[in-house]
Amino acid sequence: MSKRMTRREAIAMSGLAAAATAGTVLTATAADNRKNDMKENDMKENMKMMAPEKDLAMLGGTWADGKYALPALPYACDALEPAYDKRTVEIHHDKHHAGYVKGLNAALAKLEEARKAGKFEDIKALSRDLAFNGSGHVLHSIFWHSMTPGGGKCEGDLEKVMVESFGGVQAGMEQFAAATGAVEGSGWGVLAWEPVADRLLVLQAEKHQNLTVWGVVPLLVCDVWEHAYYLKYANMRGDWVKAFMTIANWPFAAARLAAARKMCRMM
Ligand SMILES: [Fe+2]
Repeated sequence: MSKRMTRREAIAMSGLAAAATAGTVLTATAADNRKNDMKENDMKENMKMMAPEKDLAMLGGTWADGKYALPALPYACDALEPAYDKRTVEIHHDKHHAGYVKGLNAALAKLEEARKAGKFEDIKALSRDLAFNGSGHVLHSIFWHSMTPGGGKCEGDLEKVMVESFGGVQAGMEQFAAATGAVEGSGWGVLAWEPVADRLLVLQAEKHQNLTVWGVVPLLVCDVWEHAYYLKYANMRGDWVKAFMTIANWPFAAARLAAARKMCRMM
């Protein structure tokens, strides 16, 4: 069995990969040369250890009764004092996060109406609403768990991958703090796992609605940058999209969906 296959299996068994599975070609990067390719026993051990981590990572309460829902805080409103004051936590959670949840469900309901009526005049505004509120809900749900009374240590596998990705835990933390502090206007500092190289990245998310609903796994994509269609379709982007729909590879999307569902639900 090739080293690459072993790595893929390791990732799949650890329950953490979707984008690194079907259809994603792992290139000959540092990822392939990683020192810590898991041996089978390590993987089994890792799966046993996943249970409590999985419960936490699943962000319980963010989805209930067929709708997105406001999760309860994982601690009392004043538990993060003095670093994060009770009143701000209350307003932030009960008003702001709740607003994203409400907006996300409303956007989905309006999109359903639009599909039923076959009327997509408002698709641009609705797609923005979806991204704005969807990302707001996902990021806030992760945010509440990103803090804990007294703080927590960086150790175990996370410590290892921090060292591999940033040259050291402290260096990674400093990059995270610097990037977060330098976000222009409103936004987020994000420590993220990038599945192709199996490494960590520090990102700045300015205007989270301009990007995506954070946490989704792409199943099928259509490139509408001009370079993708201009030679044949010139400014007729709609014609290119119609043509794309005739060659869309839905079995590929199905394979990626199946692979993604194998990972624990991460929002
Ligand atoms: Fe917020």
